[in-house]
Amino acid sequence: MSAVLRSTMLAAARSPRLERTITRLPLSRAVVARFVAGTTTEEVVRATETLLRSGRFVSIDYLGEDTSDLAGAEATLAQYRTLIAALGALPRSEVAPGAVRPLEVSVKLSALGQALPNDGHAIAREHARQICAAAEAAGIWVTVDAEDHTTTDSTLAIVRELRADYPWLGAVLQAYLRRTEDDCRAMAGPGSRIRLCKGAYDEPESVAFRDKAEVDASYLRCLGVLTAGAGYPMIASHDPAVITAAGVGVQAAQRKTEEYEYQMLYGIRAEEQQRLAAAGNHVRVYVPYGDQWYGYFMRRLAERPANLGFFLRALVGT
Ligand code: FDA
Repeated sequence: MSAVLRSTMLAAARSPRLERTITRLPLSRAVVARFVAGTTTEEVVRATETLLRSGRFVSIDYLGEDTSDLAGAEATLAQYRTLIAALGALPRSEVAPGAVRPLEVSVKLSALGQALPNDGHAIAREHARQICAAAEAAGIWVTVDAEDHTTTDSTLAIVRELRADYPWLGAVLQAYLRRTEDDCRAMAGPGSRIRLCKGAYDEPESVAFRDKAEVDASYLRCLGVLTAGAGYPMIASHDPAVITAAGVGVQAAQRKTEEYEYQMLYGIRAEEQQRLAAAGNHVRVYVPYGDQWYGYFMRRLAERPANLGFFLRALVGT
């Protein structure tokens, strides 16, 4: 996709006016269902059961971001409590302490209040702490998503602080940010779970690589740092070149299957997910659900012309 079209799509992803228009289109729900596993807890739990039965793990994201009031942040926290309780009630085999947990939730700190004026950082940290406590009791992992670069310092500070009590807490790093190779070095220590992705926001040249080849090269450098480190790399990409390079890297580092995992988004390259899982790899699918699908959906359209074409064809009914 051209850089201009991608930037336009990503700007549209943050436009409340377009959100109102697009979410009212009668076809939207059916089209969105390709990337989003439903709007209710019951629907996402059903999708989770199907994925677990196929030998894949899950990370579930309650959709929503950029919460602008405390009530919204508290409502998100309440949704995560309900979700974790429902996941905790699923029948599953015992997971040994320290072992890989098949169930995980992913959280966006902006949905938990990070952008609220004055004490947003502390509010998001407290909400994230409560989610970690509920998840720990239910035997579920938590990973904190990465949002735009203005939030990175606050997000990583919260992760570092909470890891004192919840050492399994994961963080996402975005290879398109110029700082990320250093962040990988700083965060590749024992027990650290880092989900490495390329990055999905429209970032300025001053902080991010904007050229695809540069982003891909940065991803491979960051992956090299994580693979050589002592933590648990989570290779979040659909890119065949990344998946091949990761396979070579983990073999060279003599990592066992339970010392890293592949991750992909719900509805994207499902056959590749199954192939990797059938070959004995741990594969986790990031499963979003909820009413506030607009920003997530638009970022998926921005990633790939074929996805945008699929949406436009549905719009004109062909
Ligand atoms: P890239 O975009 O280069 O695509 C390589 C190939 O993968 C394509 O040629 C195509 O075959 C396939 N592909 C990629 N995207 C596709 C799509 N949408 N539909 C169909 N095929 C597709 N970002 C972020 O900023 N913060 C975050 O917290 C997260 N979290 C996250 C979790 C997980 C588990 C994943 C997999 C991804 C994220 N992301 C993210 C999104 C990430 O930053 C990135 O935008 C997408 O994964 C697309 O980048 P790829 O690495 O897949 O490669």
